[in-house]
Order: sequence, then structure tokens, then C-alpha cells
Amino acid sequence: MAGGIYIHIPFCLKKCFYCDFYSEAADDKDLRALYIGALLADIEFYGKKYGKASGKAPGSFEADTIFFGGGTPSLMEPEHIETVISALKEKFNVAENAEITMEANPATLSAAKLSGYRKAGINRLSIGAQSFDDRVLEGLGRVHRARDISETVAMARQAGFDNINLDLMFAVPNQTMDSWKESLEKIIHIKPEHISFYSLEIAENTPFGRWLEEGKLAETPVAEDRQMYSLGIEMLEAAGYEHYEISNMALSGRECRHNLKYWQMDDYLGLGPSAHSFMEGKRFSSIGDVYKYIEMNPDERVQDIYQNSLNDNASEFVFTALRTKDGVSLEAFKKRIGVEFWQHYKDCREEFGKYVLDGYAVCDETHIALTAKGIDISNKIMAIFV
Ligand SMILES: C[S@@+](CC[C@H](N)C(=O)[O-])C[C@H]1O[C@@H](n2cnc3c(N)ncnc32)[C@H](O)[C@@H]1O
Ligand code: SF4
Repeated sequence: MAGGIYIHIPFCLKKCFYCDFYSEAADDKDLRALYIGALLADIEFYGKKYGKASGKAPGSFEADTIFFGGGTPSLMEPEHIETVISALKEKFNVAENAEITMEANPATLSAAKLSGYRKAGINRLSIGAQSFDDRVLEGLGRVHRARDISETVAMARQAGFDNINLDLMFAVPNQTMDSWKESLEKIIHIKPEHISFYSLEIAENTPFGRWLEEGKLAETPVAEDRQMYSLGIEMLEAAGYEHYEISNMALSGRECRHNLKYWQMDDYLGLGPSAHSFMEGKRFSSIGDVYKYIEMNPDERVQDIYQNSLNDNASEFVFTALRTKDGVSLEAFKKRIGVEFWQHYKDCREEFGKYVLDGYAVCDETHIALTAKGIDISNKIMAIFV
């Protein structure tokens, strides 16, 4: 089965006010080198379980996507990234044409670094732009400014990257509808192959979470959030992007192959502190602390091992597929889960049918999917299939 490998890089120059992903605000060269050593031990360990040394047929887990996420992977030296990619290719069956993505922050890149990453084998960059308005970037606690974004993309093009994603955020502090519209205009002008756009989520254990509780931060009203979301889709569609997943749009053929794996419930192996895996029906994660991670042996880092039941598999398949434009293919469901969709969900059919009648969802003999209107209440509709 084709699968994906995720590598977590748990370092950032500084924590953004909203971010709940695991990373340490550390820029310590020795720690980074120690971390690569610890990762290599994991690669060897999991190579014996799922890779070339597992004794399994080469096709049982062939990685056709690799994703360096974070944190800020672009804080790593190109040599470090090269070492990790070489080790992955040595220990796992990695497809010749694998998509190899790296997340990058605008303020952390140079022309030399970018060409080093390209040479190391990275063929897709995902850059955290967030906004083209300096007031908004400041309000988010970002270290970069709007000017850095176009400069970074220009340098990346120069270094040979022809597959670039830019992340945007909306419904964030200091952002007016005009500011959001201007960010969309600027991103369209830059024309990356892929654009992700996320509505702000406020997590408790972040500065934003605390400020919300203390009344120092106000949430964007839902109606405005949805208006921004619709404007984003409208403008990006007019510019030639296809809305293929709730928060993702791409030029034709440039969908993120790695993220599609999560949405199609394919196997993926996540390495590094806090990374999650779904392999051979089992979910597990790695301890979310880089210092402990470095000290432990690979087998001690694993936690929260959970064998998915048939019901888990079915509802996870529906949840993730409903996020995509194509929705749930009834045939793919049967193939992956092993039972007929409406046989498994016979008790939900009537309730789902009401959403279809009201124009929130569509349903025919081959698939079910959400409509644009349905995406706004996606959580409610998905809850039917828990
Ligand atoms: C894992 S982050 C890493 C990207 C990179 N470190 C950066 O920030 O430039 C991936 C993306 O998730 C989005 N994101 C992170 N936290 C978010 C939140 N609380 N609400 C909405 N989007 C968020 C941001 O757009 C970010 O670029
Ligand atoms: S740079 Fe990215 S990963 Fe790091 S704190 Fe900011 S959003 Fe989170």
C-alpha cells in the first residue's frame, strides 16, 4: 500500500500567539544535531517494522510522500534534511516520484538554504504566509513581515521549486474584510500552486486562549468568519484554483498528495515528538517532549497505542472524506472498511436525508458529499456518522 511519512521538526524561533502545535522556542545548534541523531534511531527502528528490513513485501508500505512539518523545519540545516531523506530512502521503500514537502517560515530562509533543500530532495515547499498585512502579522505574533513572503517565494522559484503552497489565516485579530481581500489579491498575484486557508482556532493553552478568557481578545463573529471563508473561495476559484478540501485549494493536478493520505485514511508513519501514526489499523503517537525524546530509545517513545475498531474506521473514513470535494465514495468505503456504506449506516440514512433535502448535502448511488452550504455546518452533519 502506498503511504506517507511525516517528520516533525519541533523548533521555532518564537511561539506564535495562536499556535498549539508542539515546538520549543529554541534555536540551539547542538540540540538540533542531537535531535537528528534521535530521529535516525527512529528511522532505523521503524524500518525494521515497516520498511526494507521488515521482511514484508516491498509494496506493503511504499512511501510516496514525505512531509517535514513543524514547528519550523526551515530552521534545520540542509545537511540535516539531506541526512534524514537519505536514511529514509535507505530504510524504507520510497517511491521514485515521491512528493517531499517541507514547511518553511518566511523569515528563516536564504537563497543558499533553499537551494540546499532542493538538492537534498525537497520538491515541494509549504510556506506560512498567514497574511499580507503587517498589523495582522504582528497581532499573530509572527516574526516575519509581508515583504518577506514575496521575497521568499521569488528565492524559492530561483532555487528551482515549482510546487509551492502558501498558508493563510482568516478571522484573526486586527483583520478587516478589506485586509483579508487584499491578502487574497496579493496571493493570487504571487500564484503559488496551492493555497491553504485556515479559520483561526483558539486553543486554551496558548496566549490567545488566555487572552480570550481574560477578555483581552474577542473572537470574530461566526457570520464574519463565514463571509471571509466564502470570499476566499470565490476569489481563488475565479483565479483558477480548485476547492478540493474544506481548507485547501490548488491549481489543477497540484493537490497536496501527502494530506490526501490523511483524508483517504491511507497508512502514514509519523516520527518525532508529538507525531501521530496510523499504520496497519493501529494509531499511536510519540512522546511530545523533544528532550525526553532524545534521551529515550525508540521503543520507549511510543504512546497511546490504539487498535481501531470497525466503527472507528468507518466514522474516521467518513469524517475525513467529507472534508473533500469528492466526499465519500461508497465503493471506496466498501473496499477500505469491508462493509456496504448504507448497510453500516442504515440508522443514519433518514437524518442525513433531511440535510440532502435542505441542500446541505448531496447523495446518489455512488457517493455522498457536502455542498458549499453544508461545509458551514460540517461538524453537525459529520456528527451523524460518529
Ligand atoms: C503546523 S503550522 C507550521 C507552519 C510554519 N511553522 C509557519 O507557521 O509558518 C501549519 C499552518 O497551520 C496554520 N495554523 C496553525 N495554528 C493555527 C490555529 N490555531 N488556527 C488556524 N490555523 C492555524 C497556520 O496557517 C500554519 O501555517
Ligand atoms: S512558526 Fe508555525 S509552528 Fe511555530 S509557533 Fe508559529 S505557527 Fe506554530
